[in-house]
Amino acid sequence: KNKIRIPTMEWSLCYVLYCHQCMYLLLPLGFLWGVGSSAYQTEGAWDKDGKGPSIWDAFTHKKGKVFMNETADSSCEGYYKVKDDIQLLKELKVNHYLLSISWPRIMPTGIKKEQVNEKGIKFYNDTINSLLENKIIPIVTLYHWDLPQVLQEKYGGWQNISMISYFNDYANLCFEKFGDRVKYWITFNNPWAVAEEGYETGEHAPGLKLSGIGAYKAAHHIIKTHAKVWHSYNKTWRSKQQGMVGISLTSAWGEPVDLTSQKDIEAAERYVQFYLGWFANPIYSGDYPEVMKNYVGRKSAQQGLGMSRLPTFSVQEKSYIKGTSDFLGLSHFTTRYIIQKNYSALKGPSYHTDRDLVELVDPKWPDPGSKWLYSVPWGFRRLLNFIKTQYGNPLIYVTENGVSEKLQCIQLCDEWRIEYLKGYINELLKAINDGVNVKGYTVWSLLDKFEWNKGYSERFGLYHVDFKKGNKPRYPKASVHYYKMIISANGFPNPREVKSWHQKAIETCSITNQLLAADPLTTHMEMVTEIVVPTVFTLCILISAILLMFLLRKHN
Ligand code: NOJ
Repeated sequence: KNKIRIPTMEWSLCYVLYCHQCMYLLLPLGFLWGVGSSAYQTEGAWDKDGKGPSIWDAFTHKKGKVFMNETADSSCEGYYKVKDDIQLLKELKVNHYLLSISWPRIMPTGIKKEQVNEKGIKFYNDTINSLLENKIIPIVTLYHWDLPQVLQEKYGGWQNISMISYFNDYANLCFEKFGDRVKYWITFNNPWAVAEEGYETGEHAPGLKLSGIGAYKAAHHIIKTHAKVWHSYNKTWRSKQQGMVGISLTSAWGEPVDLTSQKDIEAAERYVQFYLGWFANPIYSGDYPEVMKNYVGRKSAQQGLGMSRLPTFSVQEKSYIKGTSDFLGLSHFTTRYIIQKNYSALKGPSYHTDRDLVELVDPKWPDPGSKWLYSVPWGFRRLLNFIKTQYGNPLIYVTENGVSEKLQCIQLCDEWRIEYLKGYINELLKAINDGVNVKGYTVWSLLDKFEWNKGYSERFGLYHVDFKKGNKPRYPKASVHYYKMIISANGFPNPREVKSWHQKAIETCSITNQLLAADPLTTHMEMVTEIVVPTVFTLCILISAILLMFLLRKHN
C-alpha cells in the first residue's frame, strides 16, 4: 500500500482548516435526505418466484471468488421484509429511498420476448406502493450490477453491443409498469465498477480479465445504452409521466501531492478524468475527455496497435449522447493523493497504467472499515466544485456516501460513522454554499449487506443485521439517531445542538447494546425451539417404540 506522511506541522494546519471550520447551515425546504440499498446486495430470494439467475448468482456460486465463499442467496431477506424495512425508513424520517430493480427478477433471461415474470413485477409494485403510502419518494436504479446470466452466456454481457436493445426493452417495461409512480430513474449505478472490476481486473462478476481492452469496450456500450434509454423516456414517457432520468457515477477525488508541481496537478486531473470524466464527459460534453483519448491512443500506438483501445464515437453518436442526463447521481466515498509516474507501454495494455500516475494515502486519514475507504471530507467539496465547473453546474443528487466497519460482533456505537457523516455532510453544505447545485443526499446504506467480493465482512449499514439468525434481525446503530437529527433539522443548526445529538446517539446505542448483551430471553427461546423441543420429541418417540415392543413381546 502506498502511504505518504504529511509533515506534522502541515497536517495540523490542514486539520485546523478543514475540521474546525464547520459550516452551520440549514438547507432550503425541498432538499431530499435519504438512504440507499440495492437489489442483489439485500433481497436474497435469488431463485424464488420465477427469478432468473444473474451474473452475481453465477459468480458467487463459484468457489474462490468471494471472501469466505459467501453468497447473497438469502442476504438480508429483504424480499420478505419490505414492510419491516419501510418501518426503519419511517423511523429515520427520510424523504427518499434509493433502491434498485433486479433485471432477472422481472425478466428471467433478460430478453423481454422470452418471458416477463409477473411475480417480480408485483414485488416491485408493492414495494413502490408501500413507500408512497408512507410518503417516501422512491428513487429507482435500473442496473445495480445484476445482469441476467443468460445474456452473459449467450452474448458476453457488456462486451456485446446487443445489450443496448435488451436493456432498452427492460427499461421501457419498467417505465410502463412503474413510471406512473416513480419520478426519479437512474439508468446505471457506478458503471466505472461494472467496467473496471467486471472486465479489467475480474474481481467482480462476470470476472473477466480483459486488461486494457474489456473495460473500455464495456463502458462504451453502457454509455450508448444509457443514452438510448434516456431518449426512449424522452420520446415515449416524459410527457405522460413527468419524471427525470439520470445516471449515477462514482468518483474519488484526486489531490496533487505537490501543489506547486505542474506534473502532479496534471496527474491528479487525469485521475479524475479517467474516473468520473470517462462517463460524465460524453454525457455532458459529447465525447471522452481529451486527456483519455491522448493517453490511451498514444500507449495503444506504442503497443503496435492499429487503433486506440479506447473506442470512438461517431459524430452522430456524440450528439445523440450529449445532454442525456436530467440530473447527475454522484457516489463518493474517499480521496487519494496523486503523483505523476510514467509506465512503459511495453508492459502491456492496462487501464491503470494508461493513466501514468500513482495513488497515495495519508496514514493519518481514518480508515475504520474497507481498505480503500479513508475518511477525507474536504475531498467531497472539491469534487463537487469540479463537477460544477466542468459540466456547467448540473443538478446533482448524491446517491451514495457512507463508511463501513469490519467488526463482526455487534457494535452499535458507531462513532466513526457519526464523525464521517458529520464531516462529509458539512463539506456538502459548504459546496452548496459555493453554488454547487445539489438537491439531495443519500447515506449508503440502510442496512449491513452483501458487499460484493468482500462478502459480509464490510458493513456499511446504519442498521446492523445479524446474518447468523435466520430472520436476519436489524438493530439501529448510533448513526441512525444522529442522521435522523440532521434530517429533522435540515442541516446543522449550531455547535451546541450538533454536540448534543452526538451525546444522545451514544447514550441510546449503549442502552441497546446492553439490552442485546443481556438478552438471555431470545437465546433461551431459541434453545427451546431449536434444541430442546426436537430432542424431547425424538426421545418420546423412542421410548414409546421401546415400550410398544416390550408390551408386544409380553403379549406374545
Ligand atoms: C459502490 C457500490 O455501488 C455499492 O454497491 C457498494 O456497496 C459501495 N460502493 C461500497 O463499496
